[in-house]
Amino acid sequence: MKRLSVPAIRQRKVDGETTQPIVMLTAYTARQAQLLDAHCDILLVGDSLGQVIYGLPSSVPVTLDMMAAHGAAVVRGSYHAVVIVDMPFGSYEASPQAAFAAAARLLKDTGCAGVKLEGGAAMAETVAFLVARGIPVMGHVGLTPQAVNVLGGYGARGRSQAEADKILADARALADAGAFAIVAEGVVEPLAIAITQAVLCPVIGIGGSAQCDGQVLVTEDMLGMFERVPRFVKRYAEVAGTIEQAAAHYAQEVRDRAFPGPEQTYQPK
Ligand code: KIV
Ligand code: NA
Repeated sequence: MKRLSVPAIRQRKVDGETTQPIVMLTAYTARQAQLLDAHCDILLVGDSLGQVIYGLPSSVPVTLDMMAAHGAAVVRGSYHAVVIVDMPFGSYEASPQAAFAAAARLLKDTGCAGVKLEGGAAMAETVAFLVARGIPVMGHVGLTPQAVNVLGGYGARGRSQAEADKILADARALADAGAFAIVAEGVVEPLAIAITQAVLCPVIGIGGSAQCDGQVLVTEDMLGMFERVPRFVKRYAEVAGTIEQAAAHYAQEVRDRAFPGPEQTYQPK
């Protein structure tokens, strides 16, 4: 199986129509990538790894080193899906030149196909700069978690007409700048639909609408690894309970000296 390409993803939407919805999940480790790869069009190495893997309070402290290490692991663990790596807060906002240096490092160090960055019209110049220099860029509008200190929280976006208009303009600016796809996160459904209809590139929803051109979720969220998840998460498994039960069972058997048993023990020849 040949790895999908960014142009192939872009081509899923032709003249405003999606031929096949884009399936995207986050992945941070090689083994996770191996398990998800065949089922996904895009594996996103999200900066959500800050909270999910590192226990950080937000994605703001995530570093380029973290993204490079996890990006490389996910590329090694996959051969079918397009791997996109999030640019962490602070690595791209200051200038197109700074963004290029950081994005080029991610491509070189990980072998990923492209990067994702947050922000709308303010980032359009940077998106155009990167694309013109060989780096595919996925945009991210609406609820942009790196801006939590400005937004004040993770609530849904676009509830007022003024905010919806601004987010729609942000998506248009990114598409015009050459973004190959745009994530629309945590936006009210009419806005998600309006964005999807307004831009020619695929719009991937998370807390958006089934009418978006694709969907993404944080894998650990949809696996049921966390007790508290946003409203837009559907739990497709209850993995946390499975892990806790296994740990409890293991602990009991160790304390009872029931593990290791004969099958797990080496004997001399
Ligand atoms: O970091 C992340 O996981 C993301 C997705 C939720 C879109 O940006
Ligand atoms: Na992210």
